[in-house]
Amino acid sequence: MSHGRVDDGSARTGASRVDYAGDGLTEEMLLDTPYAQARLWVDEAVARSHVEQDVFEPLAMSVATVDAAGVPNVRVVLMRFLDERGPGFVTALTSAKGHEVAANPVMAVALTWPAMYRAIRFRGRVVELDRAEVEQYWHSRPWASRISAWTSQQSEPVASRADLEAAYARRAAQFPDTGGDDAVPVPDFWGGYRVVPDEVEFWAGRRNRLHDRLVFTRVGDGDLGEPAAWRVGRRQP
Ligand SMILES: Cc1cc2nc3c(=O)[nH]c(=O)nc-3n(C[C@H](O)[C@H](O)[C@H](O)COP(=O)(O)O)c2cc1C
Repeated sequence: MSHGRVDDGSARTGASRVDYAGDGLTEEMLLDTPYAQARLWVDEAVARSHVEQDVFEPLAMSVATVDAAGVPNVRVVLMRFLDERGPGFVTALTSAKGHEVAANPVMAVALTWPAMYRAIRFRGRVVELDRAEVEQYWHSRPWASRISAWTSQQSEPVASRADLEAAYARRAAQFPDTGGDDAVPVPDFWGGYRVVPDEVEFWAGRRNRLHDRLVFTRVGDGDLGEPAAWRVGRRQP
């Protein structure tokens, strides 16, 4: 993959125009299920982040929700789970996104790797991660991250940085670092969500803005690993 960077004088954004010269994605290249194709691209992005090092945070995922008034919201999280059920992440269930999901249990998420001219989009309904899954993940987190989860009433206002740090110090004193991995319990308000997709799009940037977009659309029951549940179509770039 290489690209031609041309200064088009885009003073408004400071951007230069890049001609995307990725490998593209043809119907012949596409694997037979959305899970297989997503797994391949995610694994390749993670590998590239270690080798070429031009993909930073390969698991960074934009998560869009809709609030009770119908207004969209979006933020970045780290994808912590990917299996045949869909991509998942951890967060505070009482955050803004948590309230939005409670009002409208739908979500769209996107993983984007500009250096690879690739993106994946998932759209569907949302389910909460089950507690066993959350517990298991929680115990893999470093102590300081677990204290931070206890400290933060995520998305609520805080008067100052000093207040936040004082709250952290109180939680650190409440749950001292014993070096053991079960010293800090999982807060009730902490957990995560998984998108259960009805649509998965694979976007591959190509020359002259003639990009490839292959979309799996749900046509029956079954998870992301069930070929019979999906139909593939191509969309215009
Ligand atoms: C690279 C990156 C990774 C992040 N990962 C997470 C995450 O895994 N979980 C999370 O709750 N917030 C994460 N955040 C913070 C969120 O973007 C956001 O600020 C927070 O979840 C509150 O969002 P909300 O008020 O819409 O609920 C991350 C931010 C960045 C930039």
